[in-house]
Amino acid sequence: MNEPRTRIGIFDSGIGGFSILHRIIEKVPSVIIDYISDDAFSPYGEKTDTEIVNRSQVITEMLLQRGCYLIVVACNSATAAAIKPLREKYRDTPFVGVEPYINVLNHREHSSEIRKAAVITTELTGRSEKFKMLKQRTDPAGSILHVSMPGLASTVESILDTGLNESLMEELHKELEPLKVLDLSHLILGCTHYPLIADLIEKDLDVITVSSGPYVANRVFDLVSPSGGEFCSSFSYLSTSSMKWEQKTSEYLFSLLKHSAVKDGS
Ligand code: DGL
Repeated sequence: MNEPRTRIGIFDSGIGGFSILHRIIEKVPSVIIDYISDDAFSPYGEKTDTEIVNRSQVITEMLLQRGCYLIVVACNSATAAAIKPLREKYRDTPFVGVEPYINVLNHREHSSEIRKAAVITTELTGRSEKFKMLKQRTDPAGSILHVSMPGLASTVESILDTGLNESLMEELHKELEPLKVLDLSHLILGCTHYPLIADLIEKDLDVITVSSGPYVANRVFDLVSPSGGEFCSSFSYLSTSSMKWEQKTSEYLFSLLKHSAVKDGS
């Protein structure tokens, strides 16, 4: 007899959560996945906390109506603004959020290689209490610089959407310019969009990037406690611009990400 499969919901303002989704698909077998891309309301990083809390509740309701048992907030901005109110409102639902992996600093196998590091985030994440507390807790000496990157998530969406062309390359170059002068060895990616172009960032800045994807997937694995079975070959996808559920294959996801070479650097 087949085991009943757990249904998990994942959301982000757009395609950024794909950097988390693909780690979950690689790590967690035997689940059903619903992914919501809230394009109608992106970018999240430039909204107010109240707007993001309200929007996260709307998306959560949609996922709960589909029968999702666990929800992955695959967005640093939504995690910063909304995960606490979500947990308070939907007490029976486990939520897994995403935070920048600043704690890489305290991991012995990496710490000796880190000469100079920075963490980049959206504006919303950067000004959030949750981020400030995380930074204080994991980097009390303040050795990791923080830089907000307005517009970078939208540039990543365009690159994934139309492919990399000269004008997007130039735009990316300009956005990364303030980081260049910092002469970094490591860059912590504090927005789920950024790992989608980790290869371009590494090349442009000559840094090693660090992403949170594998840690989020581990957490989901622990909560779902899968009993074996196949890894997902497809997932359901809805963009709030079209409001139509589509079925997408894991192959489609991996080929999309291979093109942009997601890297975890962890
Ligand atoms: N991917 C999201 C994050 O991790 C939000 C990007 C945006 O919509 O501004 O913060």
